[in-house]
Parts: sequence; structure tokens; C-alpha cells
Amino acid sequence: MFNKLIKRANIVIEALPYLQEFHGKVIVIKYGGSAMHDPELKDIVLRNVVFLKLVGMHPVIVHGGGPDISRALKRKKIKTEFIQGLRVTTKDIMKVVESVLGKKINQQIVSLIKKNGGKAKGFYGKKGRVIKAKKQWVKDEEGKYVDLGFTGHVAGIRYRFLQKWMKKGYIPVLSPIGVGRRGKTYNINADSAAAKVATFLKAAKLILLTDVRGVQGKDGKLLSKINTYKTRKLIKQGVISGGMIPKVKCGLYAIRNGVEKVHIIDGQIPHALLLELFTDRGIGTMVVR
Ligand SMILES: Nc1ncnc2c1ncn2[C@@H]1O[C@H](COP(=O)(O)OP(=O)(O)OP(=O)(O)O)[C@@H](O)[C@H]1O
Ligand SMILES: [Mg+2]
Repeated sequence: MFNKLIKRANIVIEALPYLQEFHGKVIVIKYGGSAMHDPELKDIVLRNVVFLKLVGMHPVIVHGGGPDISRALKRKKIKTEFIQGLRVTTKDIMKVVESVLGKKINQQIVSLIKKNGGKAKGFYGKKGRVIKAKKQWVKDEEGKYVDLGFTGHVAGIRYRFLQKWMKKGYIPVLSPIGVGRRGKTYNINADSAAAKVATFLKAAKLILLTDVRGVQGKDGKLLSKINTYKTRKLIKQGVISGGMIPKVKCGLYAIRNGVEKVHIIDGQIPHALLLELFTDRGIGTMVVR
């Protein structure tokens, strides 16, 4: 009878070196919209986050919501277009983005954290003004600038403000909506918002939770590591496409700017966060220089 309990105690104590390593460290978690569709799983993800906070880490959540936004736009019969994995954001689309990300998803995450016994504070756009934004331009194949409307990039993060909340025991939950000049709000790719938050907070880890095991190579197999050279090659070959382009690029940005470790993992695996943080091998793809 005791054997079973001893086994369980052993599992708990195996986490000790990892708890020591990450105690007091900032862990930024990008919670991708693609990994949010199952309510039970969502609950497990946020229970994991509450656990991390309780054992002395400082988790920060930046969430996405691509699929929910696309569904809401479809219902409203508003066409949507992506250029280089980034959504072109018209005025109408921005309204939907603010309501889906800011009102719906952000509040859902905050209440799930509270339900699991944690303290959470939601920030989006003008609420907290955590993310300062500027309009984003991208270049097409001929080098011409393309207008993406209200799509923005991060110009700054009010990280001291976040740290204040974190020290008080709160888990910040950020929607990737930034505020620019004259109070204009911008839709930001959640991966790039998360990477910037991680660099400003000098995070020990940036974990990008998505709906695939990690980055897949040409043969469809999972790549356990990816670097700048390989990323360029795979994007050129079209092997890395869509939403995986900003994700890998942001991972590389974070690793070059002081974030110690970046991992792209499958948020659909139950307890993916604990598996990533409390095992030697980890899961998914690690982004290295
Ligand atoms: N080489 C690749 N390896 C793995 N996934 C890839 C690859 N190339 C493209 N993808 C696509 O990238 C997707 C993940 O990016 P996506 O933007 O859709 O999700 P997310 O970032 O987790 O969610 P959200 O954008 O809502 O925050 C995968 O579902 C997959 O279809
Ligand atoms: Mg994405």
C-alpha cells in the first residue's frame, strides 16, 4: 500500500532541482489561440500556471486568439487576410479583435486562474496600457512596403508596472493589443508581444504553447532544435509557413535579446508546461541562436 504513495512522493521530490533553478524567475507563457478550444484542457493549463506561481516562479501569460477572431469575423461576414502570417487589420476587424481578445478571452483566462485559487490581473489595450505600439509595415517580395492597417508592433512594455503586480502575487494576463499615439489601439501578433514582454522582464524562459508538437521539418518530423540558419532555410523552402513564421522569428528575437531559453510546445498535451519545466529533455522544439 505504501509503495504507491512512496512512488508519488518520489515524483514530487524529483521536481526539487527544477524548483530551485526557477525559483523567483520570470516565465513568459504565450498561450496560443490554437491550443484553447478544449475547455478541460484550458483548465489544466491554467492550473499548471497557478502551480508555478505558488512554488515561487513568476509566470506571465500573453494569449492569442486567432481562431476565435476568425470565427467571429466569419459570423459577421467580414473578410480577413494574412500577409506573412500577420493579419491585415481594418477598422472593423480591430473592433472584433478588441472584443474577442480583450473582453472574451482575457477575462476567461483571468477567471480560470481565480477558479483554481490563483490571483490574476488582466490587461489589454488601454486597460493598463502595458504594451506601447506602433504601426507595423512589412515588405513584399519586391521590397515594397505593404500596409497592414491597425496591425502594430511593440514599441515598449511598462515592465515595472507588471513587476509591481507580480510581486503582489498576481499573474498578469496580457492581450496582444497595444496603444499608440493619440490613444490609437493596435492588433499585435501575440508571439511578438510575448517575446518583447519576455525580453523586458529578462525572463528565464519563454514558452510558446501552440497546437502542434513544435516545428516540423521537411519530412514532417519534429525538430528538437532550430537556429537562425535553419529557420531562414525552412521559411525560404516554404516548410515553415503561416503562423509558425512569426513564432520562430520571435523565438529567435527573444534568445538574441537575453531570454535564457525559448521553447515551442504543444499546448494540447495535458500538463505540457510542467513537462517542459520539470524534466531534463523537455518537449517540443527549443529555439537556439
Ligand atoms: N514547419 C511547421 N511546423 C509546425 N507548424 C507549422 C509549420 N509551418 C506552419 N505551421 C503552422 O503553424 C501553426 C501554428 O501557428 P498559429 O498562428 O496558427 O497558432 P498559435 O500562434 O498557437 O495561435 P494564435 O495565433 O491564435 O496565437 C500550426 O498549427 C501549423 O499549421
Ligand atoms: Mg499565431
